[in-house]
Parts: sequence; C-alpha cells; structure tokens
Amino acid sequence: MATQKTPTLVELAEKLVEQARELEKVIPAPPTFQEDTLANLPIEYEKTRLSLIDTSEMFTALVRGSDGPYGRVMRIASYQYLDEVALYAIHHFRIPHRVPLNSSISYADLADQCQIDIDRLTSLLRMAITFHMFYEPTPGYIAHTADSRLLVADTSAFDFIGAVSMEHKPATLKVNEALEKWPGSPEPFHAPYSLAHNTDKPMYLHLQQHPDRLRQFAGAMTNITRAGARSIALIAKAYPWAALAPGSTVVDVGGGNGHISVWLAAEHAGLSFVVQDLPHASDDGIAALPAALRGRVRFVTHDFFTPQPVHGAEAYFFANVIHNWSDRYAVRILRALIPALKPGARVLVCDRLIPEQGTVPLVEEREIRALDLIMHILLNAKEHTEAEMRALFRAADERFEYVDTHAIPHGLFKICEAVWKP
Ligand SMILES: C[S@@+](CC[C@H](N)C(=O)[O-])C[C@H]1O[C@@H](n2cnc3c(N)ncnc32)[C@H](O)[C@@H]1O
Repeated sequence: MATQKTPTLVELAEKLVEQARELEKVIPAPPTFQEDTLANLPIEYEKTRLSLIDTSEMFTALVRGSDGPYGRVMRIASYQYLDEVALYAIHHFRIPHRVPLNSSISYADLADQCQIDIDRLTSLLRMAITFHMFYEPTPGYIAHTADSRLLVADTSAFDFIGAVSMEHKPATLKVNEALEKWPGSPEPFHAPYSLAHNTDKPMYLHLQQHPDRLRQFAGAMTNITRAGARSIALIAKAYPWAALAPGSTVVDVGGGNGHISVWLAAEHAGLSFVVQDLPHASDDGIAALPAALRGRVRFVTHDFFTPQPVHGAEAYFFANVIHNWSDRYAVRILRALIPALKPGARVLVCDRLIPEQGTVPLVEEREIRALDLIMHILLNAKEHTEAEMRALFRAADERFEYVDTHAIPHGLFKICEAVWKP
C-alpha cells in the first residue's frame, strides 16, 4: 500500500513564510482580528490565499497529532461543537447588537440586557473570545472584533447563523437515524431535517408555516452569494449574459428574494427577469426592489413542479435549486419547463459542482463536501459532479443538449448550460 507523502514541519513552515509574503504584497496591511484587510481580496489572488490556508491547516493538524486533548480527533469530538454553542448563544441573545461599536460594555450590563446569569454569559463569551469573536479591552468588559462587527453590519451573516442554528443543527443529530429508517429514499421529507423538526413536509414547505424562519432562511441564502469566491459578482462573470439578445427574458426559477436577478438586471439593461418562487419567499425582495428596476424585474408565485407559465423566454435560470432535490425530483423540475420552451431556449443551472478529488485546494473541496452533506441533512438531496449534471439533463429529456460548464477560476459556482433542441 502506498503511503501518503507528508512534508516535514520545517518544509511546511518555510512554505508558509513564502506564501504569507506573497499574500502580504497584495493587501493594504497585514490582517488583524480588528481589521480584516483580506475582505476585498481580488479573485486573482484567491489561489494564494487558499494555498496559505491549506498549508497552515496542514501544519496545525500535524502539530496537533492524533491523540490527546489537543489532538485532531478530540478537537472534533469534544470541543468543536462548543464553539457553535457560544456562537448560537451570541446570535440568540443578539449580543453583537448590544455591544457598542466603538467602546466596550461590562458583562454585568450585558447580562442585565439579556436577562441571563452573568457567570453563564461570561463563560459563553470567553469561549467566543478564544476564536477571536469579541475581546476584553479591560477585565470584565467586552468590545468588538472584526467578526462580531460583521454580524452587526451584515444582516445576512446574522441570518445565516440563525438559520444554521435553528434549521441545520438539530437535523445533524438525526443523520444516522434517517439513514437507517429510510435507506436509499429519494423523498425530500425523508431527510434528517424531517425527523428533527417532526414534520412530514419537505423543508421549504415546512418553512412556509413559519414566516420568521422562512424570512431568516432567505436572508441566509443572500449571504451565501454576498462576497468572496461565492459572490454574485463572480456568478455574473461566469456566464456571458451580455450575449443574450437585447430584450431577452430570463426566468429565475426558485429565485428566492431575487437578489441574483436584481444584480444581473442592474448590469444588463437589455435583459428582463421574472423571479418565481413559493408564496412569501420573495417578500423581502419585492419590498427592496430598486425603483429603477421595477419595469425589468417582476416577481410571481410559481411552484416549479407545475408547468412553466412563462413561455418563449430566452433562458431559464436555476441558482442553488437543483442541488436541493434528489435526482428523481430534479428531473421533474426540468421536465416542467418543456411545454414553455422555444427551440434554442437555454436552461442554466448554477450550483457548486463536486470536483475530482485533489484537483482544487483542500479548503475549497471541504466547502463543496460540506454542502453535499448539508443537502442530505436538510433535503435528502446532494451535490453533483459535472458528469452527473449532464446525466440529469439527459434523464430529463434527450432534447436537452448539454452545451458547456461555465466557470471562472476560484469562483465556487459553475453554470451548467443546456439548450432545448426539439
Ligand atoms: C436554496 S434557495 C435558492 C434561492 C435563490 N435562487 C438563490 O440562489 O439565492 C431555493 C429556493 O427554492 C424555492 N422553492 C422550493 N420549492 C419550490 C417550489 N416547489 N417551487 C418554487 N420554488 C421553490 C425556495 O423557496 C427557495 O427560495
């Protein structure tokens, strides 16, 4: 059996120094926990950043070893979830919003505001301080770091933590039970989520009954494409939208609050968008639609398992939708388009495709592997490889001709394009 070739600690440390020098050359100042100077790193330097993360994580993992209280196994088993406990409490009690942005607050005052025990609060926050969320400028007082400030400035990041703690987390504890109870089931209501939330409905229908959680989930979705390698800016660059004829309509199926359509409409004055989703999923987007786009971005309620009502559009766009469904249902979603398709209509599926093992930095691979697990946990679905995506279109109908997989380096989203050739 071949053994894994592992660099020595010194080799890794030397590589770290080299990569750190390279990165510091392209940022305004070295990052600190107060100021994230990497926040707007141009995508062309993403490779450098990812290599540095991979090297430093491998270095740390080797130094931890496998055994003992600081070892790799025990880090996951006995400590990692406690970081989450602290983070979820910080979210639940809205701590970031209670800490002044430019000064500090005592634990006593915070405990008063939250109406919880001061010792418990201190324990939770001191745990958070170990992962650089908040710091103590003077004993007994806490102040913001860049991470806690982010949760005040960016509602979608705050919603993301809320959605993970309320929707995903309870479901993670039901994975094994669901695997044993429903082996091989393609049903969305056979997800661990269904057991955890005691529902026989798929997650999206269950959330319809909980408007606050639905709004929070939609906010979390916005966060996914807000910045960095997953940003809408990169989705916009990954596909030649400008090549669509002026006057074309793009139907954003399962478009949520329409944030991708809004972005694309602002960039491409010749295109119009119809955002379709279930009742209430687009409420925030409708309220926030800029007046200038009202003529070109329209929201309608539509269940994508029923026949597509917008006939003759140039393109039908599915962002973060197909991966929410097992193949049996994904095929049904694609087939529901068919009565509306004109010859040459494009079907664009925007998802994160699973790469061949070892072809991308480990940190990037972990992102997509994590998402693959999340799709199982929430929806009994999965992420696809490029070959699986091609097979999905073939299974839906032979007349879908797979054209291309559009991507830009280190943009995490790919756009899979098929054309309708009747
Ligand atoms: C993961 S979100 C993606 C939202 C948006 N496309 C984005 O990328 O941010 C999936 C969307 O599918 C919608 N959805 C789920 N079931 C649907 C159905 N049967 N018909 C239409 N939309 C549905 C959900 O409400 C949700 O907005």
